[in-house]
Amino acid sequence: MIPVTKPYLPSREKLNKYIDGIYEREWLTNNGPLVQELTKRLEEYLGVENLLLVSNGTLALQIAYRALGIHEPLNGKPVEAITTPFTFVATSSSLKWEGIEPVFADIDPDTWCLDPKNIEPAITAQTKAIVPVHVFGNACDVEAIDQIAKEHDLKVIYDAAHAFGVKYKGESLLKWGDAATLSFHATKVFHTIEGGAIVFKRKEDLEKAKRLISFGITGPDTIEELGINAKMNEFQAAMGLAVLDDMKFINTARERVSKNYEACLSGKFQFQLQHSEASKNYAYIPIVFKSEEELEATVMRLRALQINPRRYFYPSLEQLNIFSDVKCPVSFSLAKRILCLPIFAELEPASIISALCNEGCK
Ligand SMILES: Cc1ncc(COP(=O)(O)O)c(C=O)c1O
Repeated sequence: MIPVTKPYLPSREKLNKYIDGIYEREWLTNNGPLVQELTKRLEEYLGVENLLLVSNGTLALQIAYRALGIHEPLNGKPVEAITTPFTFVATSSSLKWEGIEPVFADIDPDTWCLDPKNIEPAITAQTKAIVPVHVFGNACDVEAIDQIAKEHDLKVIYDAAHAFGVKYKGESLLKWGDAATLSFHATKVFHTIEGGAIVFKRKEDLEKAKRLISFGITGPDTIEELGINAKMNEFQAAMGLAVLDDMKFINTARERVSKNYEACLSGKFQFQLQHSEASKNYAYIPIVFKSEEELEATVMRLRALQINPRRYFYPSLEQLNIFSDVKCPVSFSLAKRILCLPIFAELEPASIISALCNEGCK
């Protein structure tokens, strides 16, 4: 079966080079040398400052909310954050987990990112933040969102889990917002098996987050605030360093696969409208069908050909009973009709493309 995604595994020789060092030092976690090295190399690679490695992308979001003080109640009542329903569940569940009510605003029908014009009507006295998602690595309308946040004195945390390496007007997209979070889950373009990072705009927020990810401990005998354990360990960092060494190969391979798909499928399906000022990282191959029935029939045909696409993001999150049900018709309709096709660095796309063109797709 061709899976929708496959983790990139660097060569054992390359990985062992880093792991040998761990065995020599016997330093496994708590801000070890490989975590420090990966932090530095990622800041250089991405072109950002104030990057903090954490144990996964969900905790990256939770720590970002707390470092920015969003979770604290306002006028004795729970606070709200305006967010998109068209995303992986962690964007919203992380808010709820921190006692912040996610308030859904609908997406743009072409870019599939939070539509800025739906943000203002959703603002209430309890709103403290906007949590947009650069969904499938496509840059949000960051300038419009920034403007709204300034006018209403709101924090912005971008869930950039899919946006590793994306540039906006030639600079890292992660520079937008008070913080941007990344997921380094095994299935991502860049990964550390499990892992994540937060890129803060301000150094003081980074410093606070450093305390939060390590139980609030500030010295051998001092615990100054409430914290949690969200540290990345040395084995995760070893994998990250070995994968980072191969980014050129990974990016080129993904671009090749993606362009092959586009050449074959454009005109047959709706594709995501990319932000004209942003680069692509070829993280996903989402295509949209005219109806859910057509999508389901194609999934069956592809499975019979040993190809395993995935329906995401489905369902639209306002449909889940853990969240409040606000009408988001654009997201609701898109989520029912969208399918992600397999993409990973080593995928030889010829057979799958011909299966899609000749038999899988009509
Ligand atoms: C948009 C989005 N946000 C957050 C996450 C959570 O990241 P993690 O799985 O590293 O906790 C994911 C994971 O795939 C995601 O796709």
